[in-house]
Amino acid sequence: MTRVFSGIQPTGDIHIGNYFGAVQNYVKLGQQFGKDAIYCIVDLHALTNPAAYDPALLTQRTHEATLVNMAAGLDPENVILFVQSHVRDHVELGWIFTTLTPVGELERMTQYKDKASTLESVPAGLLMYPVLQAADILLYKADTVPVGEDQEQHIELTREVARRFNNTFGATFPEPKSVHAKNALRVPGIDGQGKMSKSKGNTIGVLEDMESIWQKVRPAPTDPARVRRSDPGDPDKCLIGDYHKLFSDDETIVKVYEGCRTAGIGCVDCKKMLMPGVERTLVPIQDRASALRRDSDAVRGALERGANEARAIAERTMSEVNDKVGF
Ligand code: ADP
Ligand code: NA
Repeated sequence: MTRVFSGIQPTGDIHIGNYFGAVQNYVKLGQQFGKDAIYCIVDLHALTNPAAYDPALLTQRTHEATLVNMAAGLDPENVILFVQSHVRDHVELGWIFTTLTPVGELERMTQYKDKASTLESVPAGLLMYPVLQAADILLYKADTVPVGEDQEQHIELTREVARRFNNTFGATFPEPKSVHAKNALRVPGIDGQGKMSKSKGNTIGVLEDMESIWQKVRPAPTDPARVRRSDPGDPDKCLIGDYHKLFSDDETIVKVYEGCRTAGIGCVDCKKMLMPGVERTLVPIQDRASALRRDSDAVRGALERGANEARAIAERTMSEVNDKVGF
């Protein structure tokens, strides 16, 4: 049996890198595994960042994240979609796991070192983050974790935690694997400086309006070898070429690739030809998001059902864990 678990940051501010690189994969796994695909809006994790010490904002961001992921195709009727803080067992299992985890191992985590190095006072929660993440996954005995490659070290720690618990208290947890194919989709940023990332400010938002997207696309860098309109270009060395592969239909892709290689079209033509695909992809998501924004009960209801479904699994695991630990 396969059970999928993935955490989703509580932000509605997602970009097309998140959409093609993560959300579409969640949707696909959801279609494949149904209620064995479990997605958790990780608000407890968000609290390790002092920027989240704003109760109204955190509530709103959790709501937005749910709404945007639903609008982007994640169907709470089909998968389990819930909020981490609604299922208290995450914290309880997390505590048990902290007692089994050497501090030194946590201090070696790259993400921790990166984040801690920017802070004057480091919250202990930041150090414990990967232990809570292990609890998130193992609470559902998930064996498959779709995450970015930057999470690999945390998933290795999750396996370590599972092994340690199993060795100490008896076989209980699987050792989960992350899934991120080697050729995992990596959406380039609009600045042509590598990966699209919120922290680099080179994003196209899923909820961004078409005019604002065009204002970013129009001046975007293209194949630097193509200086004059009459120079042929290489669409494989152009981020607009990459975007066409994500957004455009086959016919447009063929036209653009031919046109670029033969200098039959200019870069501005190529960029204009991108926009219909962007519109076809994003506008329906934006329309669904608007509809859900007008119907916050639908979002809250989905989360309530999701929490009940998650709790049912979590409680089974905790009852087994409590027996084994002696609680
Ligand atoms: P960001 O780098 O913008 O802060 P996150 O690190 O929060 O994005 O990533 C959330 C999810 O989206 C992860 O699964 C990550 O692998 C995926 N993702 C982020 N940026 C990209 C990108 N440019 N291309 C493909 N997937 C991405
Ligand atoms: Na990132």
